[in-house]
Amino acid sequence: MTLPFTPDTTVKPEVFSFFDKATNTISYIVKDPASSACAVIDSVMDIDYAAGRISYESSDQLIAFITEKGWTLEWILETHVHADHLSGAPYIQGKLGGKIGIGDKITVVQDTFGKVFNEGTEFQRDGSQFDRLFVDGDTLSIGGLTAYAIHTPGHTPACMTYVIGDAAFVGDTLFMPDAGSARADFPGGDARTLYRSSRRVLELPDKTRLFMCHDYGADGKREVHWETTVGEERLHNIHLKDGTSEDEFVRMREARDATLAMPRLIIPSLQVNMRAGQIPTDKSGRPMLKVPVNAL
Ligand SMILES: [Fe+2]
Repeated sequence: MTLPFTPDTTVKPEVFSFFDKATNTISYIVKDPASSACAVIDSVMDIDYAAGRISYESSDQLIAFITEKGWTLEWILETHVHADHLSGAPYIQGKLGGKIGIGDKITVVQDTFGKVFNEGTEFQRDGSQFDRLFVDGDTLSIGGLTAYAIHTPGHTPACMTYVIGDAAFVGDTLFMPDAGSARADFPGGDARTLYRSSRRVLELPDKTRLFMCHDYGADGKREVHWETTVGEERLHNIHLKDGTSEDEFVRMREARDATLAMPRLIIPSLQVNMRAGQIPTDKSGRPMLKVPVNAL
């Protein structure tokens, strides 16, 4: 057992899912059944990239849901710096409050992409854009619930899995059993590390509910699904089921990653998400995104 805590599956948080069709992202609201406290995990800010237009329909949905129920938003968590959608965290925080949290290795991601986007010294690489940085085994409270932050690098260096009772929010550390695993070829990603992180998540009890950050419906061959269990993944995950060796996984993952194109929204996503969801500004203070040429 390499988990830094003892899982308790008798604790069952309420989980509400919100699917964003434009980016195949699932955002979650996790609620303490015994109080009005809740957390948002992996929110989305909408972008029409061709037009450079930002909007907030996806985040507004979460805000309306929480407001109508009269709940209190305590945390706005990111599983990682996403490369395929923009975070709505600051917008949601502006409306409902709550603290924005991510893994402390965000500093590594900021350093890497600070260089890629040729950011000046005004871009802080210390994670100070976030309210809290988690290390492996850190806890946070959502009302009476205790959430454990588990460092699960591989897809990116800063990936975290949040475990709350019988529910685990795995980000891109695992995909649904028939989809396997996320790519590990972004700067700072590593297939071997991803294998070890995934197997660590699969040490949770078999009946632990796992909530994915993405699902693509097996490229249109089935409905989109985002919830499975540790037991299902251990039996059926096409990349990581029990009995798959680390070397086998690494060979498969690296061969597959070599064939993948960059995600459509990687350029705006990284610039915004490494700033905790803030849109960068130019020297005059106008919101502005860059496109580095031949840098990714
Ligand atoms: Fe991701």
